Amino acid sequence: MTTLSRRAAVQSLLTGSAAFALPHDTAAQQAPAAPPAFRAAHAPKPLPFDPAKLKGISEKLIRSHHENNYTGAVGALNVIEKRLAAMVNDKDTPGYVYADLKREELVRTGSIVLHETYFANLGGDGKAGGDILTALKTEFGSFEAWEAEFKKTAQGLAGGSGWVILAHNFHTGALHNYWAWDHMHNAPFSRPLLALDMYEHAYHMDYGSAAAKYIDAFMTNLHWEEVNRRFVTAQKMAALLKG
Ligand SMILES: [Fe+2]
Repeated sequence: MTTLSRRAAVQSLLTGSAAFALPHDTAAQQAPAAPPAFRAAHAPKPLPFDPAKLKGISEKLIRSHHENNYTGAVGALNVIEKRLAAMVNDKDTPGYVYADLKREELVRTGSIVLHETYFANLGGDGKAGGDILTALKTEFGSFEAWEAEFKKTAQGLAGGSGWVILAHNFHTGALHNYWAWDHMHNAPFSRPLLALDMYEHAYHMDYGSAAAKYIDAFMTNLHWEEVNRRFVTAQKMAALLKG
């Protein structure tokens, strides 16, 4: 073999080797993108009101609640979705191990939905009005009767965890106050119109164990315009579902 042909052969081998190695290396460097179901791109929403202006609920508490509990849930859901994407096609991951992450996925999802509902129904003057006021009077006999039942349900959760949710139930067609022990408890097929966080992290910094004072403070800061907007939208959705 001449020097020239030997050089050409080596060059050919190198080229062939490089051509063989390239897709392998590229595949290693570029892992397939996770499908949308596991996109892990949830982002926290900012507080929709000035936390320094609530009455009876401190800015320090609201900021801690938003930054630690809510934003923490958003970050956790992203981590969980990445882990699920990595495990879903892994034959060595048994279903019961996968299920633990699916449970955590539901916990964080519920936390995000309910916390975003909660923060957005704060920041108002606490004065109910609009169609929601009329509907509450119709459903409960009076606004005061609705409020008493809502607060009584909340008081039952004092000292522990949970939510009270005024919801439009699309299955029954009715407004109702629902008790929820945790982020996963919701009346099926219902739209939360007003959410009250009864986890101790929502009030302990300001009120200690005096949950009733927190419940009263929550009511005085309710943003009823937002609650009414949700109710009006829910009515339109209910009409579409009947069609
Ligand atoms: Fe919370």
